[in-house]
Amino acid sequence: MVSKRLYFDGPPEISSEFDTSYSIVLHEGYAGEFLKTIPDNEITLIVTSPPYNIGKIYENKRSIEQYLEEQEEVINEVVRILSDDGSICWEVGNYVEKREVFPLDIFFYDMFKKRGLKLRNRIIWRFGHGLHASLRFSGRYETILWFTKSDDYKFNLDPVRIPAKYPGKRHFKGPNKGKPSGNPLGKNPSDVWEVVASDWEKGIWEIPNVKANHPEKTQHPCQFPVELVERCVLALTDKDDWVLDPYCGVGSALIAGLVHERKGIGCDKEHEYVEVAKKRIKALFGGTLKRRPLGKPIFKPTGSERVSKLPDEWNDEEGDNKLL
Ligand SMILES: C[S@@+](CC[C@H](N)C(=O)[O-])C[C@H]1O[C@@H](n2cnc3c(N)ncnc32)[C@H](O)[C@@H]1O
Repeated sequence: MVSKRLYFDGPPEISSEFDTSYSIVLHEGYAGEFLKTIPDNEITLIVTSPPYNIGKIYENKRSIEQYLEEQEEVINEVVRILSDDGSICWEVGNYVEKREVFPLDIFFYDMFKKRGLKLRNRIIWRFGHGLHASLRFSGRYETILWFTKSDDYKFNLDPVRIPAKYPGKRHFKGPNKGKPSGNPLGKNPSDVWEVVASDWEKGIWEIPNVKANHPEKTQHPCQFPVELVERCVLALTDKDDWVLDPYCGVGSALIAGLVHERKGIGCDKEHEYVEVAKKRIKALFGGTLKRRPLGKPIFKPTGSERVSKLPDEWNDEEGDNKLL
C-alpha cells in the first residue's frame, strides 16, 4: 500500500484510527481502548504526560488507589505495543491529598518494572516558576522516567549534545597529552533539564515551560513544550519511526515527532483538544505553527580563560567549530 506520508510537501492526511498507510493518526477516545487497536511491538517511542488526578478540567479527582488501578490498563497496552528497541518516557509530577504529597513516579516505577522494563534515566525537568506553597517548599520540578524494553535500545547522543563549558580543555597526560579532551560535537546534556538558564552556563538543557506568553500556548491547561519532546525524539528514535502519545492533549508530542520526520500517533478523550491538535499539525505543514525552535544554547565565552576557547584544531577560518 502507498504510504500517505507527506512531509512538508502538502497538507497531511490524518487517520482517526491506527493505519500503517498513514504517517499521522489522531484518535478521539479513551487511551485504554484505542491502544488495543495497535499491534504488538510496533512503536519506537511512547512519550506522554498522563493525567495526574489533580482535578484539572479534563479529570474527575478520585483516590490515588483508584487512579493507579486505572493506569494499569494503559500501561499493559503501552508495554505490549512498544518495539524491542523502543523507549517509554513517562512524565509526571505529584498527586497531593490533604497536603500530603505522593510523587507519582515512585508508583509508576514499580508498575513498569514489574512488567520487565528497565529504567535508563530519571530525568528532572526543572522550572523556575509555579504556585507558591506556604506550608511546604514550592514544587519546581517534575520527572520523566525513561524506560526501555530491552538492553538493545536506540540511543543517539550526538543530535542532542550541548556545547561544553570548557571546550578548550586538553589531556594533561597519557598518549593523548596535549590533544583536546572533549567531544567536538559537545557534551552529554545530563539528566537535569532546565528552564530559562543557559545550558552553557549551567550544564543543563534549556526548555522554557509553556506559559501564557509562550509562542506555543493553546487553551490546554498543561501542555508539553514541543522542545522537551524533541529531545526524546532525536535521542530515542530514527526517521520514520512511530512516536505515540496516548494522552496527547493538543498534540505537542506528535508535532515534535513530525518536525523530525517521524510518524505520529495521538489519542485524547477531549474533542476540543483533538481539534486543536489537528489545527496545529495543519499549521505545522503549512509553515505557520508558532513554535519555539529546539534551542541551540547561547554560547558566550568571556574569552578570559583559555579553556573557554575552542581548540585551534576544531576552528575554521572564521573561528567557528568546523566539526559541528
Ligand atoms: C497532562 S495532559 C497532556 C497534555 C499534552 N502533553 C499536551 O502537550 O497537550 C493529559 C491529557 O489526557 C487526556 N486524558 C485524560 N484521561 C484520558 C483517557 N482515559 N484517555 C485519553 N485521554 C485522556 C486529557 O484530556 C488531557 O488532555
